[in-house]
Amino acid sequence: MAFQKVVPLLFFLTTYCHSANILYVIPFTSKSHYIMLKPIGLELARRGHNVTVITANRESNPPPNYREVMVDDKEIWDVMGDERPNIFTMASLSAEEFHKKILWNGGTAFTELTLNSTAIKAFLNEENTFDLVICEQFFQEALYALAHKYSAPLALVTTFGNCMRHNFVTGNPLQVATAISEFLDLEDPTSLWGRFRNLYFTIYEYVWWKYWYLGKHEALVKKYIPGLPQPVPSLYDIQRNASLMLINSHFSYDTPVAYLPNIVEIGGIHLTKSENSLPKDLKRLLDDSKEGVIYINFGSNIRSSELPIEKRDAFLKVFRKLKQTILWKWEDKALEGQLSNLVTKPWLPQKDILAHPHIKVFISHGGLIGTQEAIYHGVPIIGIPIYADQFNNLLLAQQIGFGKVMRYQDINETVLETILHDVLNNKSYTIKAKEMSKRFNDRLMNPLDTAMFWLEYVIRNKGADFIKNPARNMTWYEYTLLDVYILVAIVVLVSVFITNNLIRRIKNGNKFTQSIVKHKKLH
Ligand SMILES: *[C@@H]1O[C@H](CO)[C@@H](O)[C@H](O)[C@H]1NC(C)=O
Repeated sequence: MAFQKVVPLLFFLTTYCHSANILYVIPFTSKSHYIMLKPIGLELARRGHNVTVITANRESNPPPNYREVMVDDKEIWDVMGDERPNIFTMASLSAEEFHKKILWNGGTAFTELTLNSTAIKAFLNEENTFDLVICEQFFQEALYALAHKYSAPLALVTTFGNCMRHNFVTGNPLQVATAISEFLDLEDPTSLWGRFRNLYFTIYEYVWWKYWYLGKHEALVKKYIPGLPQPVPSLYDIQRNASLMLINSHFSYDTPVAYLPNIVEIGGIHLTKSENSLPKDLKRLLDDSKEGVIYINFGSNIRSSELPIEKRDAFLKVFRKLKQTILWKWEDKALEGQLSNLVTKPWLPQKDILAHPHIKVFISHGGLIGTQEAIYHGVPIIGIPIYADQFNNLLLAQQIGFGKVMRYQDINETVLETILHDVLNNKSYTIKAKEMSKRFNDRLMNPLDTAMFWLEYVIRNKGADFIKNPARNMTWYEYTLLDVYILVAIVVLVSVFITNNLIRRIKNGNKFTQSIVKHKKLH
């Protein structure tokens, strides 16, 4: 009895953390990013911390200790000065083109929009102190300077998995042979070509990022965050000094990788048991579809209605022959009344739909957030990757056996019908999906509590310098042991040289004595 009382008390005492002032910097507009990042800010507030959030997504009913500082309301494409492209066209971009055109251009433009926003400029002029600055890690490095501004420890959080750049920065091993760059799509990552491509891309990305991209962000810091405490470290060094990196992966699904203690996997943090809040009409539709439901959604950034006509018609031809209900996130009215078993809506509550037992398969672009939702609910996936990490997420699903990858370029009636038939009728996909779901949820602590523990740990330990890799303070040649190898090589070479010389001398010496002996004999 006493034990039962003492243990929770001990737990409370060891994990206790004073209410802290926390700045949470998540300005990127993307809905899918916000879905994953939002629970962290709200949970910190629920635990009594004073949370200030720099964001582009307003909460409808935030708690009083959760203050939102809003980024100016603009579409990313307006900021970049481009027309919004048809996102399906990105399916043909290489990883290098995707970085140059989208990530680096967009990242710089978006960071500038954030720093130039009215509310944010006013906020930066206030006198505030923070115990912790948490930043999303997504091509917005200039904002990390806020940790320096407030002399607070920096924690980074990413909506993606293992990241090459931060392996470099934190001194985590790169593991190029097994850990693939998150945005590089390789059919066979561990083949000779796969590992070569990954090494090449890793070097390409690192060089451009460190020597070009970070420079643009240093300029943004100079322009928009004046009056920083001197001396101002480089953005590279600010990141090197980050206390914690929360990453959106879990080894039960992602490739297992060696991580330093301050790199923590919190994959699935946005997933909670569904509150069964399906709208009535959708609930009735799903309940009544006894033959099962095929659910299609290409995510918040991609519009299904922009599918080229011939690909759209391939889908319709295949769906017409099916007895299942099709539920499709489709943004205009073009498909209304086309098929008796097809229902389209411009927006769908995905988490709750995937929780419904009648969902047979999820046709998706393979974004990580949606893939994790399918995993959580044990739903097989047919994935059509378009950009970023989508191919890699889907390749994992295919390798584990609960998914199938279909290349966007390959979409036609025959391919669609074959794959759909396979996934609907071959029970192994559903069995694997259920297994995957179980092992994804089999954890010591749920991901939200894990994130809270580590964030509060960093606050309690004032930045927890002791968990950072000492490699951060070494030069690259010390860390890679290059100086040791060179020393060994010199020692070996010198010994070989000396031994060689000695042997030659002994041989010559022998010849000398032999010739004397010969000489003596002659006389
Ligand atoms: C909460 O944070 C804000 C900064 O956004 C600050 O102005 C305010 O004083 C803080 N409140 C408390 C109680 O510390």
